Amino acid sequence: MALKDRLEDDRSAGDRTSKSTVQHWRQRLLEEINLDELARLTMTQRRARLEKVVGLLVTREGPVLAAGERANLIRRVVDEALGLGVLEPLLADPSVTEIMVNGPDSIFVERAGRVYRLDNGFASEEQLYQTIDRIVAQVNRRVDESSPMVDARLPTGERVNVIVPPLSLVGPILTIRRFPRSYSVEELVGMGSMDPATGMLLAAFVRARLNLVISGGTGTGKTTMLNALSAFVPEHERIITIEDSAELQLRQEHVIPLESRPANIEGKGAITIRDLVRNALRMRPDRIIVGEVRGGETLDMLQAMNTGHDGSLVTVHANSTEDTVHRLQTLASMSDVKLPFEAIRDQIASAVDAVVQLSRGPDGSRRITEVAVVDPARRDASALRPAVRFEFDPIGPDREVRGAFRPMQLPEALLTRLFHAGETVPPVFSTGARGPGGPPVGGGTNGHGPQGGR
Ligand SMILES: Nc1ncnc2c1ncn2[C@@H]1O[C@H](COP(=O)(O)OP(=O)(O)O)[C@@H](O)[C@H]1O
Ligand SMILES: [Mg+2]
Repeated sequence: MALKDRLEDDRSAGDRTSKSTVQHWRQRLLEEINLDELARLTMTQRRARLEKVVGLLVTREGPVLAAGERANLIRRVVDEALGLGVLEPLLADPSVTEIMVNGPDSIFVERAGRVYRLDNGFASEEQLYQTIDRIVAQVNRRVDESSPMVDARLPTGERVNVIVPPLSLVGPILTIRRFPRSYSVEELVGMGSMDPATGMLLAAFVRARLNLVISGGTGTGKTTMLNALSAFVPEHERIITIEDSAELQLRQEHVIPLESRPANIEGKGAITIRDLVRNALRMRPDRIIVGEVRGGETLDMLQAMNTGHDGSLVTVHANSTEDTVHRLQTLASMSDVKLPFEAIRDQIASAVDAVVQLSRGPDGSRRITEVAVVDPARRDASALRPAVRFEFDPIGPDREVRGAFRPMQLPEALLTRLFHAGETVPPVFSTGARGPGGPPVGGGTNGHGPQGGR
């Protein structure tokens, strides 16, 4: 039974006959095709494949139809089987980063960090429910009164959240987060998210196996930054990535992506990030990259970083570099291993080498607002020292964010550690100032450049 019917009693709807015909052929199609095989095809290949199968079925079992009628029927059946209606053109538009459906008549999209309302919507609430049903069926979930909130994914990887009445008071709500495109550090520099010197600094940190925490609010670009920085992990290393829904797109040869799994309809079978972190430690990783730490796995990560798994990269939801330390403390204390607060603090101080703080401006721009490093010579909770700060100019009437990245001198012990790892950093980080005779910021004397990873 369709979602709509499960949720509420059928209301009268359009042309029943042709609708049930479409449903019939859709059913036959689903019986006929091999879903596993289909999952391996791209969207275009999938459509072509389905059209062919429906065509064969109609020829074999159906009435004789005029060519136009026949093509129309095939298209409707395939649309029904995989189309997402009004959402299709939005999904095909790479500049759309988020799609928010608030009931059938109200669709908002985010483009370049700003939110716009669309003129058109779904033809009816029923059509919206059908689309939702189609989306959640892909992950073998369903939405109904007993599970009115569901997280799902589109075949292309986009994350989808669904919440329906009675919890939502304005009709069924669908929020689609586009699969983020990947940016190189060079591109991020080009967009003003960091300056070239900061790019070189972070590249040196990754190559020198520092443990980095990327911190920021939702949608500030943490995953994007993690992806960009992971390009500097040397090619020969065995990298294990752990995420709730795989977004990272590493290009190295030896990458093992792991993805957690939510519980099924019966509430069983969940595999958490924590389970995966523990498992990853038994997989001989050279690097562990965790999409986002949200709970007890934080302690496992800290312990791993402290026991030889250096060079790890994680992201965390926090609003400043100091807040990151507090947040890691809180998350690590959610572990079933109960450590005293001081012990957790010490673990953090000795595990974390640098925090990269991101934020999103009122104009939708995302940038690094601070890079803070832990001084290896005095590792305690107050040891965070700024290495780069973005200094904001006052916001003008155009609401554009302007300002400048200010580099600061790195602790002596950290410079030594980088030096021993064969890395040099732009001179602004070793002299603390842009001397009048010194090389320009980002002039780069180490020959690596921020794009060195690839
Ligand atoms: N530096 C940036 N400049 C512009 N857009 C960015 C930048 N970083 C990320 N984005 C975009 O912002 C959105 C959120 O990015 P994401 O990395 O998923 O954030 P988070 O992981 O913090 O939630 C994506 O659409 C992404 O393409
Ligand atoms: Mg993210």
